[in-house]
Amino acid sequence: MSDLAGQSGAAYEPRQQAGCSQHIDDRQFARWTRLLEGRAGLFIAPERKSFLASGLRARMRETGCGDLGEYYRLLSSPARQAREWPLLVDQLTVHETCFFRHAASMGLVEDVVLPGFPDRKTVFKAWSVACSTGEEAYSLAMLIDRFCTDRGAGLRFGVTGTDISLPSLRQAKAASYIERRLKDIPEDLRQRYCTPVTQSRFEVKKRLRERICFAQLNLCDVASSPMADMDLVFCQNLLIYYDRERRLEIVNSLSDCLGPGGVLVLGPGELLNWQHPHMEKVRYKDTLAYRRTD
Ligand SMILES: C[S@@+](CC[C@H](N)C(=O)[O-])C[C@H]1O[C@@H](n2cnc3c(N)ncnc32)[C@H](O)[C@@H]1O
Repeated sequence: MSDLAGQSGAAYEPRQQAGCSQHIDDRQFARWTRLLEGRAGLFIAPERKSFLASGLRARMRETGCGDLGEYYRLLSSPARQAREWPLLVDQLTVHETCFFRHAASMGLVEDVVLPGFPDRKTVFKAWSVACSTGEEAYSLAMLIDRFCTDRGAGLRFGVTGTDISLPSLRQAKAASYIERRLKDIPEDLRQRYCTPVTQSRFEVKKRLRERICFAQLNLCDVASSPMADMDLVFCQNLLIYYDRERRLEIVNSLSDCLGPGGVLVLGPGELLNWQHPHMEKVRYKDTLAYRRTD
Protein backbone atom coordinates (compact mmCIF):
# COMPACT_ATOMS: atom_id res chain seq x y z
CA MET A 1 0.00 0.00 0.00
CA SER A 2 1.39 3.41 -0.83
CA ASP A 3 0.53 6.48 1.15
CA LEU A 4 -0.61 9.59 -0.69
CA ALA A 5 1.05 12.28 1.33
CA GLY A 6 2.16 15.30 -0.63
CA GLN A 7 0.37 14.69 -3.94
CA SER A 8 -1.82 17.26 -5.64
CA GLY A 9 -5.29 17.07 -7.27
CA ALA A 10 -6.41 16.16 -10.80
CA ALA A 11 -9.69 16.31 -12.71
CA TYR A 12 -12.24 13.48 -12.48
CA GLU A 13 -14.23 12.22 -15.45
CA PRO A 14 -15.74 8.80 -16.12
CA ARG A 15 -13.67 7.23 -18.87
CA GLN A 16 -16.06 5.12 -20.89
CA GLN A 17 -16.44 7.72 -23.60
CA ALA A 18 -12.77 8.72 -23.80
CA GLY A 19 -11.19 8.65 -27.26
CA CYS A 20 -12.70 6.93 -30.27
CA SER A 21 -12.63 3.25 -30.91
CA GLN A 22 -9.58 1.67 -32.54
CA HIS A 23 -9.53 -1.86 -33.77
CA ILE A 24 -7.32 -4.30 -31.93
CA ASP A 25 -7.25 -7.89 -33.03
CA ASP A 26 -7.60 -10.91 -30.73
CA ARG A 27 -3.87 -11.47 -30.50
CA GLN A 28 -3.23 -7.84 -29.50
CA PHE A 29 -6.13 -7.97 -27.05
CA ALA A 30 -4.65 -11.07 -25.42
CA ARG A 31 -1.21 -9.44 -25.21
CA TRP A 32 -2.51 -6.22 -23.68
CA THR A 33 -4.83 -7.87 -21.19
CA ARG A 34 -2.00 -10.18 -20.06
CA LEU A 35 0.25 -7.19 -19.57
CA LEU A 36 -2.41 -5.16 -17.72
CA GLU A 37 -3.36 -8.01 -15.45
CA GLY A 38 0.20 -9.09 -14.72
CA ARG A 39 1.58 -5.64 -14.16
CA ALA A 40 -1.38 -3.72 -12.70
CA GLY A 41 -3.94 -6.32 -11.63
CA LEU A 42 -6.42 -4.83 -14.09
CA PHE A 43 -8.81 -7.29 -15.67
CA ILE A 44 -10.48 -6.32 -18.96
CA ALA A 45 -13.24 -8.70 -20.00
CA PRO A 46 -13.44 -9.67 -23.70
CA GLU A 47 -16.70 -7.73 -24.11
CA ARG A 48 -14.83 -4.54 -23.14
CA LYS A 49 -12.37 -4.80 -26.01
CA SER A 50 -13.46 -1.50 -27.57
CA PHE A 51 -13.14 0.20 -24.16
CA LEU A 52 -9.52 -1.01 -24.01
CA ALA A 53 -8.90 0.16 -27.58
CA SER A 54 -10.32 3.64 -26.83
CA GLY A 55 -8.29 3.93 -23.65
CA LEU A 56 -5.06 2.93 -25.36
CA ARG A 57 -5.74 5.32 -28.17
CA ALA A 58 -6.35 8.19 -25.75
CA ARG A 59 -3.00 7.52 -24.05
CA MET A 60 -1.22 7.13 -27.40
CA ARG A 61 -2.58 10.53 -28.42
CA GLU A 62 -1.40 12.13 -25.16
CA THR A 63 2.06 10.62 -25.41
CA GLY A 64 2.47 11.19 -29.14
CA CYS A 65 2.86 7.49 -29.96
CA GLY A 66 2.00 6.62 -33.55
CA ASP A 67 1.07 2.98 -33.00
CA LEU A 68 0.49 0.37 -30.32
CA GLY A 69 4.01 -1.02 -30.66
CA GLU A 70 5.53 2.37 -29.90
CA TYR A 71 3.23 2.84 -26.92
CA TYR A 72 4.09 -0.65 -25.65
CA ARG A 73 7.79 0.28 -25.83
CA LEU A 74 7.13 3.50 -23.93
CA LEU A 75 5.42 1.51 -21.18
CA SER A 76 8.52 -0.67 -20.93
CA SER A 77 10.97 2.22 -20.99
CA PRO A 78 12.76 2.63 -17.63
CA ALA A 79 12.72 6.41 -18.07
CA ARG A 80 9.01 6.80 -18.80
CA GLN A 81 7.11 3.84 -17.38
CA ALA A 82 6.86 5.16 -13.81
CA ARG A 83 4.90 8.17 -15.02
CA GLU A 84 2.86 6.48 -17.73
CA TRP A 85 1.56 3.38 -15.91
CA PRO A 86 -0.62 5.25 -13.38
CA LEU A 87 -2.06 7.37 -16.20
CA LEU A 88 -2.92 4.29 -18.24
CA VAL A 89 -4.48 2.56 -15.22
CA ASP A 90 -6.53 5.67 -14.51
CA GLN A 91 -7.67 5.76 -18.13
CA LEU A 92 -8.79 2.14 -18.00
CA THR A 93 -10.78 2.29 -14.77
CA VAL A 94 -14.27 3.71 -14.23
CA HIS A 95 -14.42 6.16 -11.34
CA GLU A 96 -18.08 7.03 -11.23
CA THR A 97 -19.37 7.37 -7.67
CA CYS A 98 -21.45 9.58 -5.39
CA PHE A 99 -22.28 10.11 -1.72
CA PHE A 100 -24.72 7.55 -0.26
CA ARG A 101 -24.75 5.81 -3.63
CA HIS A 102 -26.70 2.75 -2.58
CA ALA A 103 -29.23 3.83 0.02
CA ALA A 104 -30.22 0.32 1.15
CA SER A 105 -26.59 -0.66 1.88
CA MET A 106 -26.09 2.52 3.87
CA GLY A 107 -29.33 1.65 5.73
CA LEU A 108 -27.88 -1.76 6.54
CA VAL A 109 -24.78 -0.13 8.03
CA GLU A 110 -26.94 2.19 10.11
CA ASP A 111 -29.61 -0.30 11.19
CA VAL A 112 -27.67 -3.57 11.50
CA VAL A 113 -23.89 -3.22 11.44
CA LEU A 114 -23.45 -0.32 13.86
CA PRO A 115 -26.09 -1.31 16.46
CA GLY A 116 -24.64 -4.85 16.39
CA PHE A 117 -21.17 -3.63 17.31
CA PRO A 118 -20.31 -5.10 20.74
CA ASP A 119 -20.31 -2.64 23.70
CA ARG A 120 -17.02 -4.06 24.99
CA LYS A 121 -15.11 -2.99 21.85
CA THR A 122 -13.68 0.53 21.69
CA VAL A 123 -12.56 1.03 18.08
CA PHE A 124 -14.69 0.51 14.97
CA LYS A 125 -12.65 -0.11 11.81
CA ALA A 126 -14.20 0.35 8.37
CA TRP A 127 -12.77 -0.02 4.87
CA SER A 128 -14.09 1.41 1.62
CA VAL A 129 -12.53 -0.85 -1.02
CA ALA A 130 -12.11 0.88 -4.40
CA CYS A 131 -13.24 4.19 -2.94
CA SER A 132 -12.61 6.21 -6.11
CA THR A 133 -12.82 9.94 -5.27
CA GLY A 134 -13.80 9.32 -1.65
CA GLU A 135 -17.56 9.85 -1.49
CA GLU A 136 -18.22 6.30 -0.25
CA ALA A 137 -15.61 6.55 2.52
CA TYR A 138 -16.98 9.91 3.70
CA SER A 139 -20.56 8.64 3.61
CA LEU A 140 -19.59 5.72 5.86
CA ALA A 141 -17.60 8.01 8.14
CA MET A 142 -20.62 10.30 8.59
CA LEU A 143 -22.83 7.39 9.68
CA ILE A 144 -20.18 5.93 11.96
CA ASP A 145 -19.28 9.26 13.56
CA ARG A 146 -22.92 10.01 14.32
CA PHE A 147 -23.30 6.55 15.85
CA CYS A 148 -20.16 6.97 17.99
CA THR A 149 -21.30 10.40 19.19
CA ASP A 150 -24.76 9.10 20.11
CA ARG A 151 -23.29 6.13 21.92
CA GLY A 152 -21.17 8.44 24.08
CA ALA A 153 -17.56 8.58 25.14
CA GLY A 154 -15.28 5.62 24.70
CA LEU A 155 -16.00 4.53 21.12
CA ARG A 156 -13.58 5.67 18.42
CA PHE A 157 -13.42 4.79 14.74
CA GLY A 158 -11.26 4.91 11.63
CA VAL A 159 -12.14 4.55 7.96
CA THR A 160 -9.63 3.53 5.30
CA GLY A 161 -10.32 4.25 1.64
CA THR A 162 -8.23 2.42 -0.94
CA ASP A 163 -8.12 2.44 -4.71
CA ILE A 164 -5.70 1.67 -7.52
CA SER A 165 -6.08 5.13 -9.07
CA LEU A 166 -3.78 7.81 -7.69
CA PRO A 167 -5.60 10.78 -9.29
CA SER A 168 -8.86 9.60 -7.70
CA LEU A 169 -7.19 9.17 -4.34
CA ARG A 170 -5.75 12.69 -4.50
CA GLN A 171 -9.24 14.05 -4.92
CA ALA A 172 -10.52 11.87 -2.11
CA LYS A 173 -7.87 13.24 0.18
CA ALA A 174 -8.69 16.83 -0.80
CA ALA A 175 -12.32 16.24 0.33
CA SER A 176 -13.53 19.11 -1.84
CA TYR A 177 -16.58 18.54 -4.03
CA ILE A 178 -18.83 20.52 -6.35
CA GLU A 179 -21.93 21.87 -4.68
CA ARG A 180 -24.22 19.71 -6.85
CA ARG A 181 -23.04 16.62 -4.97
CA LEU A 182 -24.44 17.91 -1.69
CA LYS A 183 -27.94 16.84 -2.69
CA ASP A 184 -26.97 13.17 -2.21
CA ILE A 185 -26.19 13.70 1.47
CA PRO A 186 -29.08 13.58 3.96
CA GLU A 187 -29.85 17.04 5.30
CA ASP A 188 -28.85 16.43 8.93
CA LEU A 189 -25.50 14.90 7.92
CA ARG A 190 -24.87 17.72 5.45
CA GLN A 191 -25.33 20.26 8.23
CA ARG A 192 -23.12 18.33 10.56
CA TYR A 193 -20.20 17.36 8.33
CA CYS A 194 -20.04 19.67 5.29
CA THR A 195 -19.01 23.25 4.99
CA PRO A 196 -19.10 25.59 1.95
CA VAL A 197 -15.74 26.81 0.65
CA THR A 198 -16.93 28.83 -2.35
CA GLN A 199 -20.34 29.33 -3.95
CA SER A 200 -19.84 26.25 -6.05
CA ARG A 201 -17.83 23.97 -3.78
CA PHE A 202 -18.05 22.46 -0.32
CA GLU A 203 -15.68 20.36 1.73
CA VAL A 204 -15.96 17.69 4.36
CA LYS A 205 -15.18 19.13 7.79
CA LYS A 206 -11.71 18.59 9.16
CA ARG A 207 -12.96 16.74 12.23
CA LEU A 208 -14.34 13.98 10.00
CA ARG A 209 -11.46 14.05 7.51
CA GLU A 210 -9.07 13.30 10.35
CA ARG A 211 -10.76 9.94 10.92
CA ILE A 212 -10.13 8.78 7.34
CA CYS A 213 -6.97 7.71 5.60
CA PHE A 214 -6.60 7.08 1.88
CA ALA A 215 -4.00 4.82 0.34
CA GLN A 216 -3.27 3.11 -2.93
CA LEU A 217 -4.01 -0.59 -2.85
CA ASN A 218 -4.41 -2.93 -5.78
CA LEU A 219 -7.04 -5.57 -5.16
CA CYS A 220 -4.56 -8.23 -6.18
CA ASP A 221 -2.41 -7.31 -3.20
CA VAL A 222 -5.09 -7.51 -0.51
CA ALA A 223 -3.73 -10.74 0.95
CA SER A 224 -0.31 -9.18 1.60
CA SER A 225 -1.73 -5.83 2.78
CA PRO A 226 -2.03 -4.70 6.41
CA MET A 227 -5.85 -4.63 6.15
CA ALA A 228 -7.01 -6.86 8.99
CA ASP A 229 -9.53 -7.19 11.79
CA MET A 230 -12.06 -4.94 10.03
CA ASP A 231 -15.56 -4.44 11.43
CA LEU A 232 -16.92 -3.32 8.07
CA VAL A 233 -15.61 -3.94 4.55
CA PHE A 234 -17.63 -2.09 1.93
CA CYS A 235 -16.99 -3.11 -1.68
CA GLN A 236 -19.40 -1.93 -4.35
CA ASN A 237 -19.29 -1.38 -8.11
CA LEU A 238 -15.96 -3.08 -8.56
CA LEU A 239 -16.67 -6.82 -8.84
CA ILE A 240 -18.84 -6.10 -11.89
CA TYR A 241 -15.66 -5.59 -13.92
CA TYR A 242 -14.32 -9.06 -13.11
CA ASP A 243 -15.23 -12.56 -14.22
CA ARG A 244 -16.68 -15.01 -11.69
CA GLU A 245 -13.41 -16.74 -10.89
CA ARG A 246 -11.72 -13.44 -10.01
CA ARG A 247 -14.77 -12.23 -8.08
CA LEU A 248 -14.52 -15.31 -5.87
CA GLU A 249 -10.82 -14.74 -5.25
CA ILE A 250 -11.42 -11.09 -4.36
CA VAL A 251 -14.34 -11.78 -2.04
CA ASN A 252 -12.48 -14.60 -0.29
CA SER A 253 -9.51 -12.33 0.36
CA LEU A 254 -11.75 -9.48 1.57
CA SER A 255 -13.45 -11.89 3.98
CA ASP A 256 -10.08 -12.72 5.47
CA CYS A 257 -9.64 -9.04 6.38
CA LEU A 258 -12.68 -9.09 8.68
CA GLY A 259 -12.51 -9.53 12.41
CA PRO A 260 -15.00 -11.77 14.25
CA GLY A 261 -18.53 -10.46 13.64
CA GLY A 262 -17.29 -8.08 10.92
CA VAL A 263 -19.54 -7.49 7.92
CA LEU A 264 -18.73 -7.50 4.21
CA VAL A 265 -21.13 -5.38 2.12
CA LEU A 266 -21.18 -5.95 -1.66
CA GLY A 267 -23.39 -4.42 -4.32
CA PRO A 268 -26.65 -6.35 -4.74
CA GLY A 269 -26.33 -8.85 -7.57
CA GLU A 270 -22.56 -8.52 -7.73
CA LEU A 271 -21.94 -12.09 -6.60
CA LEU A 272 -24.30 -15.02 -6.94
CA ASN A 273 -24.28 -18.25 -4.92
CA TRP A 274 -21.15 -17.56 -2.91
CA GLN A 275 -20.47 -19.71 0.09
CA HIS A 276 -17.73 -19.51 2.68
CA PRO A 277 -17.35 -21.69 5.79
CA HIS A 278 -16.99 -18.66 8.07
CA MET A 279 -19.44 -16.22 6.49
CA GLU A 280 -23.22 -16.06 6.92
CA LYS A 281 -25.63 -13.96 4.91
CA VAL A 282 -27.03 -10.84 6.56
CA ARG A 283 -30.69 -10.41 5.60
CA TYR A 284 -31.62 -6.82 4.83
CA LYS A 285 -33.85 -5.71 1.95
CA ASP A 286 -32.15 -4.97 -1.41
CA THR A 287 -28.64 -5.61 -0.11
CA LEU A 288 -25.94 -8.27 -0.33
CA ALA A 289 -23.92 -8.67 2.84
CA TYR A 290 -22.16 -11.37 4.88
CA ARG A 291 -21.04 -11.56 8.50
CA ARG A 292 -17.90 -13.29 9.73
CA THR A 293 -18.94 -16.00 12.15
CA ASP A 294 -15.67 -17.34 13.57
C1 LIG B 1 -16.96 2.57 -10.23
S1 LIG B 1 -15.76 2.98 -9.02
C2 LIG B 1 -16.62 2.50 -7.55
C3 LIG B 1 -16.53 3.54 -6.47
C4 LIG B 1 -17.36 3.25 -5.23
N1 LIG B 1 -16.99 2.00 -4.62
C5 LIG B 1 -18.83 3.27 -5.53
O1 LIG B 1 -19.48 2.21 -5.50
O2 LIG B 1 -19.37 4.35 -5.80
C6 LIG B 1 -14.59 1.63 -9.24
C7 LIG B 1 -13.25 1.93 -8.64
O3 LIG B 1 -12.48 0.72 -8.63
C8 LIG B 1 -11.12 1.05 -8.80
N2 LIG B 1 -10.38 -0.15 -9.24
C9 LIG B 1 -10.44 -0.79 -10.42
N3 LIG B 1 -9.59 -1.83 -10.45
C10 LIG B 1 -8.97 -1.86 -9.25
C11 LIG B 1 -7.98 -2.70 -8.67
N4 LIG B 1 -7.45 -3.73 -9.32
N5 LIG B 1 -7.58 -2.44 -7.40
C12 LIG B 1 -8.12 -1.41 -6.70
N6 LIG B 1 -9.04 -0.56 -7.20
C13 LIG B 1 -9.47 -0.78 -8.47
C14 LIG B 1 -11.17 2.15 -9.86
O4 LIG B 1 -9.99 2.94 -9.85
C15 LIG B 1 -12.42 2.93 -9.45
O5 LIG B 1 -12.13 4.06 -8.67
